[in-house]
Amino acid sequence: MPLPVVTLDGPVGSGKTTVSRILARELGLVLVDTGLFYRSVAWVMDRQGLDADDEQLAAGVAADLAIQVHPDPSRASGQRVIVNTHDVRDDLYSPEVEGIVSDVARHPEVRRVLLPKQRETLRVGGVVVAGRDAGTVVWPQAEVKVYLDASPEVRARRKHREQEAAEGESDYEQILSLMQNRDRIDTGRKTAPLRVPEGALVIDTDALDAEAVAAQIITAYRQLPNPDGAP
Ligand code: C5P
Repeated sequence: MPLPVVTLDGPVGSGKTTVSRILARELGLVLVDTGLFYRSVAWVMDRQGLDADDEQLAAGVAADLAIQVHPDPSRASGQRVIVNTHDVRDDLYSPEVEGIVSDVARHPEVRRVLLPKQRETLRVGGVVVAGRDAGTVVWPQAEVKVYLDASPEVRARRKHREQEAAEGESDYEQILSLMQNRDRIDTGRKTAPLRVPEGALVIDTDALDAEAVAAQIITAYRQLPNPDGAP
């Protein structure tokens, strides 16, 4: 029997990345971050000076995308990401990519092309998959589906603190406004908008730290009839 899949959806800054890393570590799951696929397309488009609003161009980049993710404990992110032979992990979080990624992800044709590439990584199970449509579109049959939420102010403060720690400076108002713009595009688009998946465990993370959030999910996972995938 395939191992279980855990999906983790939620808006920017709801804690998906931190929580999914804890789940991967505690439950021995492989982490698949579907945001990396959209960020990779955005990175290629920015690098080649292509217009992110052009759906056909974006879909062409998505179709040619070769993305590999390797664990790398020597890096803060714990991962090395290779896109079309370039080592790009940090570049995927540049202001240029942040500025266009939701426009790229809005195109139905881009999502259609990337979906099978994402599903490919989930077939054997034993995976925690994070994103915006992981539990609604990518893998609705997941054994555990989770939706993380938090108020925009709390989410912007988290990003602000992270950025300050990493770069020494950060502009809270700018982060809040960019985040609200991405939220608006991600929830308002026609194809695979950000929604609470049917049957999901919804966790409001405003007053919880990542360990406490992960603990709730681990409890749900351990209650599965067959968490080890044994026949
Ligand atoms: O999760 P992350 O912030 O890395 O995602 C970057 C952007 O990629 C999101 O704001 C969203 O526009 C897009 N995305 C998406 N569907 C996913 C994952 C990410 O549309 N499953």
